[in-house]
Amino acid sequence: MILGLLLLNPKILYICAMSGDITVAITGVHAFVPEDVLTNKDLEKLVDTNDAWIMERVGIKERHILKDPDKASAFMGAEAVKGLLQKTGTDPEDVELLICATVTGDYQVPDTANQICKLSGLSRAYGFDLNAACSGFLFALATGAQFIKAGTHRKVIVVGSDKMSSITDYTDRSTCILFGDAAGAVLLEPSINEFGLEQIALYGDAAGKDMLRIKSGGSLRPPSEETVAHREHFVWQDGRVVFKAAVKGMAEAVKEVISRAGYQSADIDWIVPHQANYRIIKSVAEMLDYPLEKVMINIQKYGNTTAATIPLCLWEYEPQLKEGDKLVLTAFGGGYTWGAILLTWAYQK
Ligand code: COA
Repeated sequence: MILGLLLLNPKILYICAMSGDITVAITGVHAFVPEDVLTNKDLEKLVDTNDAWIMERVGIKERHILKDPDKASAFMGAEAVKGLLQKTGTDPEDVELLICATVTGDYQVPDTANQICKLSGLSRAYGFDLNAACSGFLFALATGAQFIKAGTHRKVIVVGSDKMSSITDYTDRSTCILFGDAAGAVLLEPSINEFGLEQIALYGDAAGKDMLRIKSGGSLRPPSEETVAHREHFVWQDGRVVFKAAVKGMAEAVKEVISRAGYQSADIDWIVPHQANYRIIKSVAEMLDYPLEKVMINIQKYGNTTAATIPLCLWEYEPQLKEGDKLVLTAFGGGYTWGAILLTWAYQK
């Protein structure tokens, strides 16, 4: 009798499915990269640096910069979301929630997520921002997945958008070579083939506070003439210390999710690391004894776009991804914050 009801009424079938254990899948990815390019040659005119040093020590050839002063992270996020809706054939009215990972929100208040909803026509969705620096996309993905897993939401968009040029000091050669602007977005839905997110490992450690930060502009040290004069509104880091912490943090997090899932590293088809420095990515692969050809890398074209790096990689490599591929996403950033998510890719483009 009950089975008969289920078969006859697809809505009841859906409710039953929701009450079970829901697997959450990424069902689409898109990104936005601004047109203007800042090359190493351009940087040579701004600071005492050169293409050879940047390529050897960091592996970045160029980055994209959003030059229009009237546009920022909300605009880039909305462009990524509009493309995502179009390519996945998603009705904007069906999206319920949008989470934006960013350290460069358009304003302190209001949040950027709700601006993205408005700009991309998500008339029914609500949004909120999340700040976990360069790990922001991972933390937002884990957060968004919980809403679907709980059975209360069916379509959640997770955006990583950062206009890093707005907090980059173009007189500091140790940081201005690193960052670029971009946004990426993924659609999360209940999986229809059991493929999706499998393991999530997230970590935080306030020991990172003095190693990577924007010193002023928050409630502890509000902006003033003095803070601006001392250039404290720009991002600063102790590069060597962060480098070592990033390699260790990402390698350990990747190992953790692989072992929790009962896999070996040979079972993983792709590692998708945050793109901060080519040497960091290479060192993580070496620590894992994992072939570099199976690591997604596009840092040479975009630099470190903070919350956007992982969706930007997924977007570029999407044509190569097959349904059933096992991916480990991993990131490390300010805070410190870091982690890894192991998932099975749920669709073929
Ligand atoms: N061009 C030329 N020389 C530069 C330079 C540049 N753009 N930036 C720094 N240097 C110089 C330094 O002044 C230093 O000179 P010195 O030996 O005379 O003092 C020398 O190069 C080495 O500096 P160091 O800071 O040790 O270089 P590095 O190899 O550690 O590279 C970073 C610097 C920032 C690229 C690197 O440490 C890094 O990528 N760190 C982690 C970044 C990161 O992950 N950040 C975000 C986390 S998401």
